[in-house]
Amino acid sequence: MSAPFSLSGRREVEELMKKYHICGSKILHEDLKKYMPGGVSSSFHKPQYRDYPLAIDYGKGSKLYDVDGNEYIDYIGGFGPMILGYAPKAVNEAVEEQLKYGSHFSSPTLSILELCRLLTEVIPSAEMVSFQNSGTEAVMQALRLARAYTGKNKIIKFEGQYHGWADEEKITISASSVEELGDRENPNRILHTRGMRPDSAQWLYIAPWNDLDYLEKLMKEHCHEIAAVITEPVMCDSGPILPRPGFLEGLRELTLKYGILLIFDEVITGFRVALGGAQEYYHVTPELSTFAKAVTAGYPFGVIAGKKEIMDGGVPSSGTFNGNPVGVAAALATIQELKNPGTYRHLEEIGNALADGFQKLAVKYGIPIYTRAVGGIFILYFGFEEDVLDYREWLEKADVKFYERFVKGCEKYGVRFTDQRGREYISTAHTMEDVKRTLQIADVVLGEITEGYRED
Ligand SMILES: Cc1ncc(COP(=O)(O)O)c(C=O)c1O
Repeated sequence: MSAPFSLSGRREVEELMKKYHICGSKILHEDLKKYMPGGVSSSFHKPQYRDYPLAIDYGKGSKLYDVDGNEYIDYIGGFGPMILGYAPKAVNEAVEEQLKYGSHFSSPTLSILELCRLLTEVIPSAEMVSFQNSGTEAVMQALRLARAYTGKNKIIKFEGQYHGWADEEKITISASSVEELGDRENPNRILHTRGMRPDSAQWLYIAPWNDLDYLEKLMKEHCHEIAAVITEPVMCDSGPILPRPGFLEGLRELTLKYGILLIFDEVITGFRVALGGAQEYYHVTPELSTFAKAVTAGYPFGVIAGKKEIMDGGVPSSGTFNGNPVGVAAALATIQELKNPGTYRHLEEIGNALADGFQKLAVKYGIPIYTRAVGGIFILYFGFEEDVLDYREWLEKADVKFYERFVKGCEKYGVRFTDQRGREYISTAHTMEDVKRTLQIADVVLGEITEGYRED
């Protein structure tokens, strides 16, 4: 049996598989630690499997180059924004053009009007939009809008879903075991860090995902106090887990039946699974949705979109940099690029080729590998093959240790996959050549992990 892009022999392996030296990253981390807590700007910058993160010199297309000059095919994508690859020409040129006129005015601009028109054209649920600078802020505002509009305060949030790092958003986002999640009928509200308000979860109901019976029971009993359900339409931030067929449609029906708003957190799925996000992909329209990351292909920005009567309900959206011209220019250029014919077909082709290749490797090494491709998201995990329903089932089945060893192994040879989560981002800059090399490296690393290199 041979893998799809298998190496022909040991010499070729040795040539291609020179392990990287990354002492520059280590030295930089030691220096940074003197000035910054943990030596990182965001806790997510340091993967779980190493003591220090790779320090990057520059990025171009599908590749990143570290401070030691090593090249990596990258599937981390800056945690999602880099849908057009690193340093996308059209977006950078639009930003450079804007910079000639100024980077910030705290005032309306003609470009804001243009972006409003474009967003309301491409996002199915967008009757109106407003702007923030990150996904965290967009979600904060969406929750506030939902509470103001309904006059109710509770929110249903799902286990394992991350909506940002504000106190109320960072609840039960991860757990080390199912036991830690507590009773399925009454899941624990897990505060993610010390220093969060002890009552951060006071206004939340935590629920398992993909379970309409559970939700109907909860809504029937408590709809008088529940303002909204917030969900990622594809659960990307742990898992990832796909919505079971009919789940999003069922959730839509239930929320309408019980007078509860539906909020899609499309910070990851927006502009990535389809131009109009998961709401376009699955044909389910929420009242409110949030976007960030891929909307600007690498510049800080956030968008809240939704129904006019909710968006325009007298709840101000504040913030010094909201609607800043640099982000607006980047968003306009990004959306124009994404509108190019064939964009999403290319993303899916790359995802499908990776999935095919990994399935062949699963057979070759006799291990269960889970792969799915949805727009610009490639899902890769070890330990199971079929879709799992919720975060609990994922925790039981996913072989986190194996995945970590795999990711760590690939990084040594020049491919970067996402730390722990199995959510790999594809960009329009990824090529079939990248796929080929990725699978070659995966082949070697799986051989190493599953004990011993196997000759074809
Ligand atoms: C689904 C989801 N919502 C919200 C956020 C927060 O976005 P940001 O990091 O831009 O604040 C993230 C970030 O990863 C996310 O994945």
